[in-house]
Amino acid sequence: MALIEVDHLTKNYGHGRGIFSVSFQIEQGEVFGFVGPNGAGKTTTIRHLMGFSNPQSGKAIINGMPCFQRASTILQDIGYLPGEVALPDGLTGWQFIRMIQGLRNYHDDKRLQYLLDKFRFDPADKTKNMSLGNKRKLAIVTAFLADPKILILDEPTSGLDPVMQ
Ligand SMILES: Nc1ncnc2c1ncn2[C@@H]1O[C@H](COP(=O)(O)OP(=O)(O)O)[C@@H](O)[C@H]1O
Ligand SMILES: [Mg+2]
Repeated sequence: MALIEVDHLTKNYGHGRGIFSVSFQIEQGEVFGFVGPNGAGKTTTIRHLMGFSNPQSGKAIINGMPCFQRASTILQDIGYLPGEVALPDGLTGWQFIRMIQGLRNYHDDKRLQYLLDKFRFDPADKTKNMSLGNKRKLAIVTAFLADPKILILDEPTSGLDPVMQ
């Protein structure tokens, strides 16, 4: 059985928009990407895998579980980078990282330091004062932080300079 299974997934927003009968399978250990022009439906597909959206027809399944119905279980294994990062105001990067560590109950500071070094990122600033690139870096670091079994990254290179990409 594939780890991730998308089977004839359909969400019709009307006027020809949405996703229509999208199917693919991803095995454990596989790195899988999909590309398409703006509005093709990449984010909509990802939102179904994250269990944020209930399919109109077809299926989005992770680990044998339907993503929408079993979201709270499935999300424990997922690190997620949204296409549009929305960070809470009034927190520093450090406070945000500590909050995510607490929520995920994962406190491996060696891994955190590895990620901060890898992305040459200093989380001292308040999130609202960060450049777009640094907001993206903070979101990337927190997606990878808990060493999740599954990583779902929406436009992971967006906002980063060529070296960081
Ligand atoms: N919540 C929504 N309500 C109505 N239309 C939507 C909604 N979300 C996405 N769409 C439409 O669905 C299409 C696919 O969008 P999206 O998945 O964001 O594309 P991509 O990520 O590939 O750029 C677009 O035409 C978009 O306008
Ligand atoms: Mg998108």
